[in-house]
Amino acid sequence: MVRVIYNERFALLTDYPFERLRALLEGITPPPSPPVVMSIGEPQHPPPPFVRDLLDASSALWGRYPPMNGTPEFRVAATDWLTRRFALPAGFLDPDRHVLPVAGTREALYLIAHLVVPRRKGSARPTVLIPNPFYQVYVGAAVMAGAEPVYVPSGRQSGFLPDFTLFDPKILQRTPYDPDTLNRTALAFLCTPANPQGSVADLEYLKQAITLARRYDFVLAVDECYSEIYDSIPPPGVLHACADLGGDLTNVVVFHSLSKRSSVPGLRSGFVAGDPDIIAAFARLRAYGGAATPLPVMAAATALWQDEVHVAENRTLYRAKMTAAERLLGGRFGLCRPAGTFFLWLKVGDGEATARALFQKAGIRVLPGAYLARPDSTGVNPGRHYIRVALVHDLDTTVWALERLRDILG
Ligand SMILES: Cc1ncc(COP(=O)(O)O)c(C=O)c1O
Repeated sequence: MVRVIYNERFALLTDYPFERLRALLEGITPPPSPPVVMSIGEPQHPPPPFVRDLLDASSALWGRYPPMNGTPEFRVAATDWLTRRFALPAGFLDPDRHVLPVAGTREALYLIAHLVVPRRKGSARPTVLIPNPFYQVYVGAAVMAGAEPVYVPSGRQSGFLPDFTLFDPKILQRTPYDPDTLNRTALAFLCTPANPQGSVADLEYLKQAITLARRYDFVLAVDECYSEIYDSIPPPGVLHACADLGGDLTNVVVFHSLSKRSSVPGLRSGFVAGDPDIIAAFARLRAYGGAATPLPVMAAATALWQDEVHVAENRTLYRAKMTAAERLLGGRFGLCRPAGTFFLWLKVGDGEATARALFQKAGIRVLPGAYLARPDSTGVNPGRHYIRVALVHDLDTTVWALERLRDILG
């Protein structure tokens, strides 16, 4: 019998967190009411009506193969948005050299590793630095690109952001990391606001990360897809940090998405911006393995990047839910109102047992934190005591679910 021979790296991928959750909840019968899915960060707020109008109005364009680098209008809209939002100097970004549309940032975060991870860095196997906990795609990207994933502690002591100071040669001696880790690093992922903890990197942190990337010649991939879901202060962006450091974009790429900002996860639209050499190479790679964004989607996406009204309304809805969460759960489960994202990262004891109990007793699906993390150097999974709860439903549903969660967890 002929058998398929798989890429050996494929066996190193663990099941996707939602698949693991499905297995965890298998055999449990929830109450008859429809389940409330708070495991996946899929915004349920209605997108602005002009999205549907624009899709309808441009329906003739479904008959055309879309260009890989999108339309000039989209690139200009994205560039103008970045310039406004991150207070970049006029002309800092060139729409044709610095911005590339992608069919959702997940694909782009995966592909970037295939672009910038070489077979060897120096004479060693390359590493990819990944926050721990993380957005799972970073791990799949590193593994499938042949790199060694290095999980960087991102706990309380470093503000729930990757603690790059651990790689200081003096400190590194006292850690289990290979002293050569940074020299071997080809790529580092950073997520701000961070999924799952909601922490935000300040400008100083971003500048230090950029400086480190340049000193050790690795690519800093900054996932800012939650940048518009913030509580009170707009999170700074890595492009602003580049501008502050003199304007050079070398080694830096940033990922932005409409999925969360505009509540259109099904539109599959985002963009990558930054180092023009990487953007040009990325465009070449995507010509082979990427999905071009359909032209009607481009038209809707262009209009979404030009509009801030719906984004502000969206934030107001999330703020109301965070306020409700504070009122209902405040002072418990280590809840501190996140600076960004729509996630609650709750310390509940046993994350898996809690996820099962919530599903069984109330039909509420949440994600055990352990599925978003890997054991640290002492063998302990930093997410094991946590659950991640996505506040993606309307206020009433959210309040109902949080009341049930509070009552069930006691
Ligand atoms: C941290 C993070 N990055 C990227 C993505 C991908 O978003 P999209 O592919 O919809 O742009 C997600 C989606 O959940 C996410 O949580």
